[in-house]
Amino acid sequence: MPTDKPRLYDELARQLAALIEGEPDLVASSANMAALIYHGLPDLNWAGFYFARRQELVLGPFQGKPACLRIAWGEGVCGTAAARGAVIVVPDVHEFPGHIACDPESRSELVVPLIDDGRVLAVLDLDSPVPGRFDEEDRAGCERLVAIFLAHQLRWPEAFA
Ligand code: SME
Repeated sequence: MPTDKPRLYDELARQLAALIEGEPDLVASSANMAALIYHGLPDLNWAGFYFARRQELVLGPFQGKPACLRIAWGEGVCGTAAARGAVIVVPDVHEFPGHIACDPESRSELVVPLIDDGRVLAVLDLDSPVPGRFDEEDRAGCERLVAIFLAHQLRWPEAFA
């Protein structure tokens, strides 16, 4: 894998598109995306999805230690990103009021919502044991990966049903 971030995200985008090409199943595609990110980006201790279900977030495919099963809308970093419909980068999770510590080793976090037509369908959550792990390049890179995934998945009507 390339070491400079723009090339790394170019490579991850290419691999993601190839991995999910032609696969309509949400679980299959999101599981491979979580694995790609977890093993492709350095210094992560968790990468995965929470899906929006009846105004709460429910754990989806991920890589890392077992995590909280459900997160209330508006709670923690994931629930706040879902409620705002906006990306959240948290350089130090101890400074984020209401942060949910699934793994006490997590120190920084990046959450990218998956939004279609104004509706938040899911969030992608990345955690790191390194404070300040996520910068603007990570934010842009992960938004790009999410856009590829969402465009792909929305081609199937049963996605996110
Ligand atoms: N820290 C998250 C909870 C999810 S875990 O990190 C996997 C939060 O505050 O929303």
